[in-house]
This record gives sequence, structure tokens and C-alpha cells, in this order.
Amino acid sequence: MNIFLANPRGFCAGVKRAISIVNTALKIWGKPIYVNHEIVHNTHVINYLTSKGVIFNKDINSIPCGSILILSAHGVSKSFKNQAIERKLKIIDATCPLVKKVHKEVKNASKKGYEAILIGTSKHPEIEGTLGQYTNVNGHIHLVESISDIYKIEIKNSKQLMYMTQTTLSLEKINPIIKELKKKYPFIKNSKTSDVCYATINRQNAVKKLSKISDMIIIIGSKNSSNSNQLFELAKKSGKYSIMIDSKKEINLKQWHENTKSIGIASGASTPNIAIKQVIKALNKIKKTKVQNMPGLKEKILFDLPKELQNIQV
Ligand code: F3S
Repeated sequence: MNIFLANPRGFCAGVKRAISIVNTALKIWGKPIYVNHEIVHNTHVINYLTSKGVIFNKDINSIPCGSILILSAHGVSKSFKNQAIERKLKIIDATCPLVKKVHKEVKNASKKGYEAILIGTSKHPEIEGTLGQYTNVNGHIHLVESISDIYKIEIKNSKQLMYMTQTTLSLEKINPIIKELKKKYPFIKNSKTSDVCYATINRQNAVKKLSKISDMIIIIGSKNSSNSNQLFELAKKSGKYSIMIDSKKEINLKQWHENTKSIGIASGASTPNIAIKQVIKALNKIKKTKVQNMPGLKEKILFDLPKELQNIQV
């Protein structure tokens, strides 16, 4: 059986930075280190860091004063950060710089007195953090998840209106919403560069290529990973039989047909390489496999650690 590996796949620059921040903090200050939420949405990463002494804790009031608190890659609202400051926690910000870019757009809209429309998925921590950058009491930021939501919101002045998006959605999903927004509000403004990040776009393009040559697609990623779910949606949309699994434990022989000759494997931006290797090994035990790395983009983006962690010898 042929296995085609999507390229690029796995960790993006924001995830690498966030995990490196936690590991560096552990080396400097030792355990326990607190993180306000899963640092990135992947169970392998969370289990590993928990075993090293990291405590993932949403309830800020239960974190002892003076502790080290790392803010997850998804970002937090201004009010959450203020609570952490009030509790005298030492804050290290692991928010992905590309999420911060969207935060900046919201802050600008808030400062200018513009209303804002955020296209995203409710209850996702990135959305909570991004909505929470808008502080203008005379304005408002609206969350839009679908085209029908556009007709549920009330805009005071459509000439002072901006939109922004979650970083990990698919362009297929957001482009029709943006089109409708522009139709309803012809003066609406947006950032010159896409809010959907490079890693999301590259991994989605890799899945599209994969679906052309594979009989079946496996997306490796955790159920709460937004970008992995978007890859899964795209894979299903291609018409190829597709499954999403978190680890090799979820591989089930009944999942594919006897005549499956090739499987395409892709993974979300928070999925570690080890999870991919374990899945391939497990597949190889079921059927002899030949693994081929697909040609694809080489990602060169790297983000620096926060200043307080740079130049520290550990
Ligand atoms: Fe950042 Fe995109 Fe990764 S927003 S954390 S580079 S998926």
C-alpha cells in the first residue's frame, strides 16, 4: 500500500515557539509552570508537558499568586491579562505573533471608534481572546460564523466598519462570508494581508493535492484543533473517504475498504511528528507500506522567543 505524506504537515512556527517557551520556562524556573489553556490543541503535546510539571488551568483564581503563567498560543482577552496582573502572576506570552496581528487590527478598530466584525468559531479560545481586544464602550465587535449571521447583527454606521477573521479557518469557508459582507457593507475595510495564517493555507493546499492521488485520507490531529478540523472538512469535500484520528490507537481496520491502495496522510499545525510516525508504523503492521513524501513548500518562518526568555543560559 502506498502512503503519501502531505507537505508541509505538522508543527507551524507559532506552535514551535509556544512549546519552546514552555520548555524554556521549565528549565529556568522548574515546575510547576501554569498555562491558562492547552498551550496548543494536541493531546500528545499536553500529555508530555503535563508529565514535565506543567499545569493547564483555566481558573486563574486557583493559580497561586507569584506563579509563572504562560498564555497559550491562541491568545487571551485584555481582561484576562489584567486579572493575571492583579494576581501578581509572572506572565509569559506565547500568543502566536500571527494571532497578535489580528489582535492589533481589533485594537485599531476599537481605538478609531469603528465597529468590527470577526469571522470565526464561537467558543474557540482564539475568538475569546480576539473579541476581548475590543474595549471601546461606544462601539461593538460582532462575531459572525455564517452568512446567515450577517443578517442578525445591527451596525450603527456602515462607513466605519472593519472585519477580521480567525487565523485557522479555511478560505473556502470564509470567502463566501466575506463576499456577502462586502455586498451588504460596501465600505467595510479589512487588513491588507490575510488573517488566515500561512500554515493554515499551506496545509490546506497540501491536502487538496493529496486528495487527487490518494484513495483515502487520514488527518492526524486532536478533536479540538481548529486547523486539523478544517483539513478534515477539506478532505471529506474532495469526495475521498476520510477519517481524522488523534493517534495510532484510533486506527481501525474497518475504516477502509479492501481495495484501498493508497492512503494520504496529513496533519494539523499542532500535531507532533511522533504521532505521524506512530500512525505509519501501525499501518505498516497491518499492510506492507511504501511511504512517499510529497513535494511541497518548504516553510522557513520562525518566530523569536519573547524578550524575557532570550539570552538566558539554561
Ligand atoms: Fe500561528 Fe497559524 Fe500556527 S496562527 S499558531 S502559525 S496555525
